[in-house]
Amino acid sequence: MKVAVVEGDGIGREVIPVARDVLECVRPDIEFFEVTVGYGKWEQTGTACEESDINDLKSADAILLGAITTPPDPDYRSVMLQIRKKLDLYANLRPVKGEDFDILIVRENTEGLYSGIEWTEADRACTLRVITRRGSRRIARFACERARTRSHLTVGNKANVIKSDVLFRDICLEEAARAGVPCTAQYIDSLALDILQFPSRYDCIVTTNIFGDILSDVAAFLVGGLGLLPSANIGRRHALFEPVHGSAPDIAGRNIANPIAAVRSAGLLLDHIGEPEAAAHVEEAVRNTLAAGIKTPDLGGSATTSAFGKALLRELRILRRR
Ligand code: NAI
Ligand code: MG
Repeated sequence: MKVAVVEGDGIGREVIPVARDVLECVRPDIEFFEVTVGYGKWEQTGTACEESDINDLKSADAILLGAITTPPDPDYRSVMLQIRKKLDLYANLRPVKGEDFDILIVRENTEGLYSGIEWTEADRACTLRVITRRGSRRIARFACERARTRSHLTVGNKANVIKSDVLFRDICLEEAARAGVPCTAQYIDSLALDILQFPSRYDCIVTTNIFGDILSDVAAFLVGGLGLLPSANIGRRHALFEPVHGSAPDIAGRNIANPIAAVRSAGLLLDHIGEPEAAAHVEEAVRNTLAAGIKTPDLGGSATTSAFGKALLRELRILRRR
């Protein structure tokens, strides 16, 4: 089992080592290798991500990634976009769980407003929002597959204003009907409010690229912030696991970032490679550590990133010995 580790920039370098320790603890046979991409690399070499880096990532069974800072360069191409596209990681899964709700946001990850088809003219700048039948169908099928073992599916859309969302919404409704999954469509703006007011009404939500990106940050409010939310980027051949949050330059380098989002991303990786029991232990260890009052400052505590990591590993070892 080969896992590529991309710490990336900012707090990625602080939280990913904790997540890696967690993986090492439960699967000592994993062979890790580092891949360096991102802002730091761009500063040093003028390129943020090379073709050889993409090939290295492709050679892994799974990828664990921190976050990448977007450099202030007008010609810059988002590294995350490049990776998601070149590895065809079309499904972005963002689970948000609390006491009385268990929501899975399934975000289309390769097209929509993040199509990357954009240009700047003298008096305007354009980005093409591309929604394809194929792209919509495969994400709809993916979401239905997940929703089948749950209760129902909600299609987040803005079909009342944006024509390309009529296509997306209708294909999702069609696929859900075919799969026998109870499904409703809801406008994304009203959904963003409702998810905060009535989280337990939601189960699986499928939506287009940018709406899914925004909705998951909104939903972070339900669980205590961005430091807690993991994500999985899944394609037919490759899989990448990363926290929902970015590189957080405002707190980087101070050893105060919450590593839980990264650790939970490692948990999703374990699920993906067929280790659901180990994944459950990771989640239990997170809960036990928090219950012991060990928390980073974003959750009102005073633990450092590394201190939280140490306490978490202690809990995890106890669970694994049982
Ligand atoms: P961000 O998610 O990095 O930070 C937003 C706020 O949440 C900040 O106040 C930050 O301190 C806080 N926060 C985030 N993660 C935290 C954690 N683990 N513990 C405690 N507090 C945490 O979003 P922002 O500031 O909009 O973006 C910063 C950089 O990250 C940008 O260059 C952006 O492009 C990049 N980014 C990269 C992503 C990726 O690589 N997948 C995803 C999102 C942003
Ligand atoms: Mg985001």
